Amino acid sequence: KIITINTDNSIAKVQPNMWGVFFEDINFGADGGVYAELLKNRSFEFAKPLMGWTVQRPKANEGELLVVNRKEENTTNPRYIQVNTEKGNFGLSNEGFKGIGVKKGLRYDFSVMYRQKAPGIKLRLQLISSDNKIIGEGSLAPETSGNEWKKQSASFTAKETDAKAKFTILFDGKGQIDLDMISLFPGDTWKNRPQGLRADMVKMLADMKPGFIRFPGGCIVEGTDLANRYQWKKTIGPIENRQLIMNRWNVEFAHRPAPDYYQSFGLGFFEYFQLAEDIGSDALPILNCGMACQFNTGEVAALDELDPYVQDALDLIEFANGDTNTKWGKMRADLGHPKPFNLKMMGIGNENWGPQYLERLAIFTKSIKAKYPDFKLINSSGTDPEGDRFNLLNTSLRNSKADLIDEHYYRPADWFLKNAGRYDDYPRDGSKVFVGEYAVHADRNVIGSNRNNWQSALAAASLMTGLERNADVVQMASYAPLFAHIDAWQWAPDMIWVDNLNTYGTPDYYVQKLFSTNKGTDVIAAKLDGKNITGQDGLYASAVTDKISKEIIIKISNTTDKAQNIDFNLAGKRSLKTKGFVDELSSSNLNQLNSFENPDAISPKRNPIIIKNKKLALTLKPYSFSVIKIPFT
Ligand code: AHR
Repeated sequence: KIITINTDNSIAKVQPNMWGVFFEDINFGADGGVYAELLKNRSFEFAKPLMGWTVQRPKANEGELLVVNRKEENTTNPRYIQVNTEKGNFGLSNEGFKGIGVKKGLRYDFSVMYRQKAPGIKLRLQLISSDNKIIGEGSLAPETSGNEWKKQSASFTAKETDAKAKFTILFDGKGQIDLDMISLFPGDTWKNRPQGLRADMVKMLADMKPGFIRFPGGCIVEGTDLANRYQWKKTIGPIENRQLIMNRWNVEFAHRPAPDYYQSFGLGFFEYFQLAEDIGSDALPILNCGMACQFNTGEVAALDELDPYVQDALDLIEFANGDTNTKWGKMRADLGHPKPFNLKMMGIGNENWGPQYLERLAIFTKSIKAKYPDFKLINSSGTDPEGDRFNLLNTSLRNSKADLIDEHYYRPADWFLKNAGRYDDYPRDGSKVFVGEYAVHADRNVIGSNRNNWQSALAAASLMTGLERNADVVQMASYAPLFAHIDAWQWAPDMIWVDNLNTYGTPDYYVQKLFSTNKGTDVIAAKLDGKNITGQDGLYASAVTDKISKEIIIKISNTTDKAQNIDFNLAGKRSLKTKGFVDELSSSNLNQLNSFENPDAISPKRNPIIIKNKKLALTLKPYSFSVIKIPFT
């Protein structure tokens, strides 16, 4: 077979931020995941105040614990505990989020807010292994007494590794002490930020060089009802003032009970912006449009009460970009970032539909565009790319000249293959597309029934060649969801799996990474018999030039069980170098998975290639996806 690539002609520009990531606090993505806090329910605000905690009271007279609610005085963090002790055996244990991951030789940073009338109590801190040994020990002697709350920290080093440890505080001495925000972080957080993010998980993202990071979801933007929607203003500033809510994903799933899943907002909007900046991505916040999740209550804000929602959007732009003389720009500076974050876009609504969405969206759009005419707004068109609802909404959004329309598809592998040409005939003269959530699901009626095997990643890669070929229309795309904790997931497949100590990338991770690290600058034509390559002989392909790195990059998948010999005819004036290479993902087993034990089962293998007289002959392995790189001068 001969594939002709025209190496000169740019048929579309590739947006520098085309391939991004979708982040949601689902599957313990944030709390219990990338937000590195190790203690569950640190501020006693879960539905049952002592969820995650066990009181150790060996003898009746050794101590007492009281949960105190000061809701008039502190509305965002009303509860604290009051401990009265007699002897040093009284204590509290925290089970962590499905255990606490402890690493030998690593420093652990404990902190607590306390208040005590008179000195007298000292805190003994212990990490306890799953077989009940002390594997790390420290202490904290409160430095002050009086009526004021004081925050104090203490660090200590772990002596052993354990993925499922617990943490215990024993109270030495006699007296009374009030405690709140009892916290433990590993000493190796991302960029060593105190109370920061899990470095191994952030590194997985940074390695992808994602063009954007979409946050905070997903359905948690909407909430099951409006009271539990995501409100960014409640997620910034001192963590003790960030009001916790139950996570919308605290649900029974796959015969497993709801995992006591709450949002502490320790990873809040400031941290999201900071993360995006750290890994060189554009920030893409999605805001509630005045509607709760339509798969749940479907509650909507009355139209004449939409102002606070719209104001949140306007204020967010000021928070991200405003001068430090503005109210919200000053807030950003006070939080430690005087420089603007250079926010360029936001989404209004997630998977919302119907006239009620269009009415609310119109109000947001008018207000935001009046103040920020060049700011890009992403509109949502839902989850059923073949349904009437989706198409009707899409038409309305296109008629209203939406900047970008967010399409979601969780569909079987054959749907992905059939839709690789989905945008080839899409109108060029209007709204652009953001494929904001997608993943191959084995059976569309059984969401979460499968893990990402090689078949799903290969089908996603094949569809992505179609997104890339149409980069003038499809300007951004993100696979979803991103993270899942092996002991606490509610949705699968997911791109990256973690436990308390490790991470691994699924085959989809490597597909996504190959696209985002080889995005190029310009789409060029790749044709088989004069046609776009959208499944002929099971082949799917696209090509770009990268004018910065000076490379031709061809992406091609062979979805058949046979090897295929391809002659690439590299037409055009470019002076090609003779040596290049190909990064290849392949497996003869479509069910092949990656795992903690075998994280690289499906991962790119690099081989050299030789280009002679503008021709390249290559054998594509059965069930393979290849990224071919040909340098030019
Ligand atoms: O990615 C998981 C969920 O799928 C998201 O929260 C929602 O937007 C979609 O339905």
